[in-house]
Amino acid sequence: MSAPLPPLTVIPPALQTLADYERLAQLHMAPDIWAHVQSGAGAGLTLANNRGSFDRIALLPRVLADLRGGHTRRTLFGRDHAAPILFAPIAYQRIAHSDGELACVRAATAMGVGMVVSTLSSVSLEAIAAAGRDAARDLGTTPAPLWFQLYLQETRADSAELVTRAEQAGYEAIVVTVDAAVKRATFALPRGVFAANLPSGSDRRQTSTPRGAILFGTPLAETAPTWEDVAWLRANTSLPLIIKGILAAEDAGLAIEHGADGIVISNHGGRTLDGAPAAIEVLPAIADTVAGAVPLLLDGGVRSGTDVVKALSLGAAAVLVGRPQMHGLAVAGLAGVAHVAHILRGETELAMAQLGCATLDQLGRDCVANTATRTVASPQHRHN
Ligand code: FNR
Repeated sequence: MSAPLPPLTVIPPALQTLADYERLAQLHMAPDIWAHVQSGAGAGLTLANNRGSFDRIALLPRVLADLRGGHTRRTLFGRDHAAPILFAPIAYQRIAHSDGELACVRAATAMGVGMVVSTLSSVSLEAIAAAGRDAARDLGTTPAPLWFQLYLQETRADSAELVTRAEQAGYEAIVVTVDAAVKRATFALPRGVFAANLPSGSDRRQTSTPRGAILFGTPLAETAPTWEDVAWLRANTSLPLIIKGILAAEDAGLAIEHGADGIVISNHGGRTLDGAPAAIEVLPAIADTVAGAVPLLLDGGVRSGTDVVKALSLGAAAVLVGRPQMHGLAVAGLAGVAHVAHILRGETELAMAQLGCATLDQLGRDCVANTATRTVASPQHRHN
């Protein structure tokens, strides 16, 4: 098997879509790393459906609309984002490029999009925030909005310490991921890549299994977080609290009851329960339940601007992209990730224009052509 190609220093003109990046990324990643990044749980049903469900949604173009003053800006938790697109938390980004999260935060700052930094980042959360500030100073812009993704730790003291560190480093929201507490890791990290935020340098939630136990009765299951931990977290940070990994409308209601300021509808990129629905499939029902009480974000399978407008039309305030960051990183480091964000934003603008929408507020269920997806009659968003 040939060694992976080094990252490119110049972006070839043939790279025009996120699919182009994905194809090329395979050549720039070692086979085990590629398999780890791309994989889904089980038979990959949910992973495949994350894409398929976007593809089944049809958009209804509208012509000759007034597009003057158009833009893709979105305000989230009081902060301006250039586009409704954030980098999803992805663990151990240095497996894709030696600069890892540092390249991503510089790219996010250059493109004015937000980044959610994983508890399992391979560069410390402080160093990532500092790199964002330095990049902003060099570019004469503001640092990218940074949110910290928390995996609740075995003890509340350990979780609290991570939250305090994130607050002190200038992170603007806490995203607590609740769908991966009992996920098993089988991937062996390459030498020199470790969990830079954790004292042990490794993810201790993936603990060894006592003899005979499968899941129930293991430390993994016995220490899995519950809603009480969310309420505790709410009481222990003044930052906006976003719950990531919700698919049931009932859980969206519980999240709000327990103090969530935002929700990420997500099946963890198809990596947890195989057979779980795609986020985009459950979005309309959750949007109806939540009825605007908190912003809804969504991830899983977002690969083009038309996917972005589909999600926003059905009720998302913004989307997150996961694997495409790793593809951009592997292909061309900072420039690759920045290009991925640029492509998505450009495609989003084009799709908005074709839908006759000059601003994101004008996207609504009337932009979606298949009636099955529209389910509930929506207010007339577009031309009021
Ligand atoms: C993830 N995801 C993830 N989520 C999280 O909350 N914390 C994490 O550390 C990680 N790590 C991680 C690593 C890798 C390799 C992947 C592919 C995914 C899930 C991620 O945030 C997001 O939910 C999905 O990746 C979104 O789906 P797409 O865009 O990859 O299809």
